[in-house]
Amino acid sequence: MKNLAVFSSGFGSNLQAIINAVKKGKVKVNIALVLSDKVDAYSLVRAKKAGIKFLYVDPALFLDRISYDKFIMRCLRKEKIDYIVLAGFMRIISDYFIKQYKNKIINIHPSLLPSFKGKQAILDALDYGVKCTGVTVHFVTSTLDGGPVIFQAALNIKDDESLESLSIRIHRLEHKLYLKAIDKLVKGKLVLRGRKVVVK
Ligand code: GRF
Repeated sequence: MKNLAVFSSGFGSNLQAIINAVKKGKVKVNIALVLSDKVDAYSLVRAKKAGIKFLYVDPALFLDRISYDKFIMRCLRKEKIDYIVLAGFMRIISDYFIKQYKNKIINIHPSLLPSFKGKQAILDALDYGVKCTGVTVHFVTSTLDGGPVIFQAALNIKDDESLESLSIRIHRLEHKLYLKAIDKLVKGKLVLRGRKVVVK
């Protein structure tokens, strides 16, 4: 079975969805490590409760970005990690990392990319007044929120939509879509043709 690392800086609802799916045998993968750059990330608590190895690596302890990344890379090698899933990880993944895990790192973003890149995608979509938004799962490349798209799912924004209600609906969609993508990823069924991802 393939080994998965989940990187999460925060609440970890996507992580929880992955944990639940793996427990139920819906996705066949071993979550070998949960890693966070934030000491108070609730995702660390979720990992602990689920009996999954977890690691907090404080960026402040490292001289620069590359030494931080190299340390993390050693941890990943130790755990024989095959794939990396970003789930609300708030640090930019460096080129060094991307080269080592080429086409093996995926991310989920709460908008229909390339619209509304960045940290406040749900709010930005709402403020812009678009009538539909959604969720994108994509490969991670050196372009922020710009890697090849694996799956997208859309939802309509209601006239009386609040940030809270939209966030809840987006997250529900994320949890389903991410599992589908992770399942295909670990089965080696995502094939890249240029920028296009073909699902086998
Ligand atoms: C999600 O909305 C995801 O799309 C974005 O960060 C958020 C993480 O949420 N990249 P959670 O920590 O999984 O609840």
